[in-house]
Amino acid sequence: VLDALVADLAADPPARRLVVLTDDVVAPLYADRFVRRVRRRGLSACLIVFPHGESHKNRRTKGWLEDRMLELNVGRDAAVVALGGGVTGDLAGFVAATWHRGIPVVQVPTSLLAMADAALGGKTAVDLPGGKNLVGAFHQPWGLYADTRVLETLDERTYRDGFAEVVKAGAIGDLRFFRWLESHAEALLERDPVRLEQAIGACLRIKGGVVVRDETEHGLRALLNFGHTIGHALEAVSRYRTTHGRAVSIGMIVESVLAVRRVGFPEPHAERLRALIETFGLPVRYRGRMAPEAIVRATRRDKKVRDGRVRYALPRRLGSALPGSDVTIEIDDAEVRSALAAVN
Ligand SMILES: NC(=O)c1ccc[n+]([C@@H]2O[C@H](COP(=O)([O-])OP(=O)(O)OC[C@H]3O[C@@H](n4cnc5c(N)ncnc54)[C@H](O)[C@@H]3O)[C@@H](O)[C@H]2O)c1
Repeated sequence: VLDALVADLAADPPARRLVVLTDDVVAPLYADRFVRRVRRRGLSACLIVFPHGESHKNRRTKGWLEDRMLELNVGRDAAVVALGGGVTGDLAGFVAATWHRGIPVVQVPTSLLAMADAALGGKTAVDLPGGKNLVGAFHQPWGLYADTRVLETLDERTYRDGFAEVVKAGAIGDLRFFRWLESHAEALLERDPVRLEQAIGACLRIKGGVVVRDETEHGLRALLNFGHTIGHALEAVSRYRTTHGRAVSIGMIVESVLAVRRVGFPEPHAERLRALIETFGLPVRYRGRMAPEAIVRATRRDKKVRDGRVRYALPRRLGSALPGSDVTIEIDDAEVRSALAAVN
C-alpha cells in the first residue's frame, strides 16, 4: 500500500511539495524510507520528526512544527503527509488544517487504532491540560492509505489498544460484526493479516456510514463517542499517561452501566461487551488512583456538553443506537458517580 501511495502521489500530486510529519518511533521504521522513495519519483519532500506520545499532542508541539515548517520555507503549495498513529494523524492533520489557512493532508495511519478509526472522518485536534481534543478542526484528508504490514512492528500493548475502537465500532453500529469479533478474536490477536484487513475494513465502513450522514457532528456522529466521555476524562485526569485505547475500554464499561440503567441496554449485552474487551486484553475497571470526583469534573469539559449538562452517546442494544437523530442523553453527575463506583 505504501508503494501504491508513492505511485498515486507521483501520478496526481496533491501539491508541489510534501511535508512528512511523523513521530520519533515511526521515523526510523518507515518515514526515512518513504521520503527516499518519494524523492526517487521526482517529488520534493521534507521530513519533520516530533517526540512520540499523547503528552506531545498539544499546542506546544503544533507551534514547534509550524516554526520548523517556516524555517523550511513550506508554502501554500505544499501538502502534509501524516505518517503514524492517531496522535500523528490528529496533530499533523490540525497543522495542515491551519497552515496558510489550510493545505491538503494525506493520512497514512500506522497503528491499528489509527487504521480502524482515527485516520477516517476528518477530525483533527490537540489536547489541552484540562481536556482532550478541545482545539481542532474538521479537515478531510486527500486520501487515506493503510498498509497492515506495518502493524508487525507495533508493541503488544499498543496493538491491543486498537481493539478498543474496533469493539466500539461493533457495539454501536453492527451486531453481526460484533459477533464476528467474538469468533475471530484469537486470529486477530495473532495478527492474522487476512482477518485484520477484514476487521479494519468493517470498522471503516461503519464509521464512514456515520460520517457521511453527519460530517460535522450535529447529531448522529456523536454515536462514535460511545465510551469517550468517560474515556477522555480518564485521559485528562491521568495527565495523558493512560492511553486512549485503555481509557476508552474502561469508558465503554462505565457507560454501558449507564446504558443499562437509563436506556434499557440489556444486561446480557453489557456482559458480552465486557467479555470481548477482556478477551482483547484491555482493562474493564479503572482501579482508582484517580479520584471519582476528578473524573466527574473532567466530564464537564466534554464537547457534548449542552447548557452546562453532560450528555452521553449510548447504544440501545449491541449494534444499534438510540432512535432519532439525537443519539445522546443527559445524565447527571450522581448517576455517573454511581456507575464509576460500580466498576471500580
Ligand atoms: N481523529 C479521530 O477521529 C480520532 C479517533 C480515535 C482516536 N483518535 C486519537 O488517536 C490517538 C491515539 O492513537 P494511537 O493509539 O495510534 O496513539 P499514538 O499515535 O501515540 O501511537 C501509539 C504508539 O505507537 C507507535 N507506533 C505507531 N505506529 C507504529 C508502528 N507501525 N510500529 C511501531 N510503533 C508504532 C507510536 O510512535 C506511539 O508511540 C489519541 O490521541 C486519540 O484522541 C482520533
